Amino acid sequence: MNNLPLLFCGIFFTLAFSFTGIVLSSHLQFGNLTLSTEELEDDGDGNLVMVDGDPMYPRLEGGVALQGKQVYIEMGCIYCHSQQLRRESHGADMDRGWGPRASVARDYITQKRVLLGTMRTGPDLTNVGGRLQGDAGRDWHHKHLYNPQITSKGSIMPPFAFLYTLQKIDGDPSVNAISIPADSEYALEPGYEIVPTRRAVALVEYLLSLKIDYSLPEAPILD
Ligand code: HEC
Repeated sequence: MNNLPLLFCGIFFTLAFSFTGIVLSSHLQFGNLTLSTEELEDDGDGNLVMVDGDPMYPRLEGGVALQGKQVYIEMGCIYCHSQQLRRESHGADMDRGWGPRASVARDYITQKRVLLGTMRTGPDLTNVGGRLQGDAGRDWHHKHLYNPQITSKGSIMPPFAFLYTLQKIDGDPSVNAISIPADSEYALEPGYEIVPTRRAVALVEYLLSLKIDYSLPEAPILD
C-alpha cells in the first residue's frame, strides 16, 4: 500500500468535486430565494409591471392540506404524477392546460418535501386545484379516488377505495357521503353509503390546495 496518500487524495477530490457541483453550486443558485411580495399590475400605460404588494408567494403549507400531503406520499401518487410544469418551449404542458405558467425554483421554497415526481403516467398535478375547484372539485376527487372509473372511464389509475368506508345508512344519510348517481353502473346497493375517512378528506384538501395562481418576478402569469 505505497499509494495510500494518492488513494486518499483521489477519494478526497472525488467527494469535494461532487459536493461543489451538486450541493454548493445549487445553494449559490437557489439558496437565497425568498418569498415574493411582488404582484403583477398594470402601470396605467398598458404595461404589466411587478409592484410590491401584500401577499407573500408561494403560500406556506399548512393545516389539513399538509396532512394530506403525507397521505399523498404514503399512497405513492408520486410514482404516476409529477408536480413540475415545463416551459412552453420545452414540451406541451401549457397546451394541455396543466397550468398558466412554468414552475420555477421559487415555487418550492416553502415546501419541506418537494414532490417533483419522475413519471407522468397521469397528468401533472402542480395546478390541479386550479382545474378542479370548490365543492364540485371536492366531490369529483372523492368519486375519482374511490373508483377512477366513475369519473374517468377506462382510467388506469388504481382505486383508493380503502380510504373510504362503505356503511349501512342508519337513519338519515351522512352529510359527508359521496354522491354516486343512482343510475350509474357504480351505484351502491340501496340503503348503503360511502363516507371518506380522515385521510381521504385530508388528501382531497391537499389536491385542492395545489395551485399556480400567482405571479413571481421571474415567472409572471401573462394572460
Ligand atoms: C398507476 C398510476 C397512478 C397512480 C399510482 C395514481 N394515479 Fe392519479 N391518475 C393516473 C392516470 C392515468 C390519470 C388520468 C385518468 C384519470 O383521470 O383517472 C390520473 C388522474 C388523476 C387526477 C385527475 C387529474 C386531472 O387533471 O384530470 C388526479 C387528481 C389524480 N390522478 C390524483 C391521484 C392521487 C391523489 C393519487 C394517489 C392517491 C394518484 N392519482 C395515484 C394514474 C395514477
